[in-house]
Amino acid sequence: MAMHRDEARAQEARDNISEAGVSERCTVICGNALEQDFSAATKVFLYLIPRGLRIILPILEALDRENLDVVTYMSPFPAPQLAIETYNVETAGHKDAKWPLFLYRLNDPAAAAAADAAAATAAAVPKDDDEAAADESYCAGLGLPSVCVLH
Ligand SMILES: C[S@@+](CC[C@H](N)C(=O)[O-])C[C@H]1O[C@@H](n2cnc3c(N)ncnc32)[C@H](O)[C@@H]1O
Repeated sequence: MAMHRDEARAQEARDNISEAGVSERCTVICGNALEQDFSAATKVFLYLIPRGLRIILPILEALDRENLDVVTYMSPFPAPQLAIETYNVETAGHKDAKWPLFLYRLNDPAAAAAADAAAATAAAVPKDDDEAAADESYCAGLGLPSVCVLH
């Protein structure tokens, strides 16, 4: 499924798809991307300005679909969303270009678990004050002067 809100551009897409001989595998919709039902989407490719990406990200995240692969072209999703890979591509019209593609996997349970574990580890690391006190106590326990503590 491809989408554009401008009918002329949607028709251009249909023509390109037809020329490539894959019309039976593609549907081009002329409409507002923010009002479409993406629930059947298996992969998503987005060529939107940053504002459009910011608006559509929560819509895709709310699909309740694990491991939804999404590629954005030219602009990344806003932070803190992190691309798992980035690529540079040329296009038919710009042979020497290195236009960026960003690959995301939304609603990835493994990544969420890793983020939770990293947050738990960060929370368990003593803050500077706690660390200094622990060092003092360690030195005192060994009968060493506290000046042995490295700051
Ligand atoms: C960065 S341009 C990409 C242009 C074009 N798709 C192409 O491949 O050359 C983003 C396009 O998304 C269209 N657009 C913006 N908001 C949209 C929306 N809510 N639904 C559908 N298309 C939208 C704009 O009209 C604009 O042409």
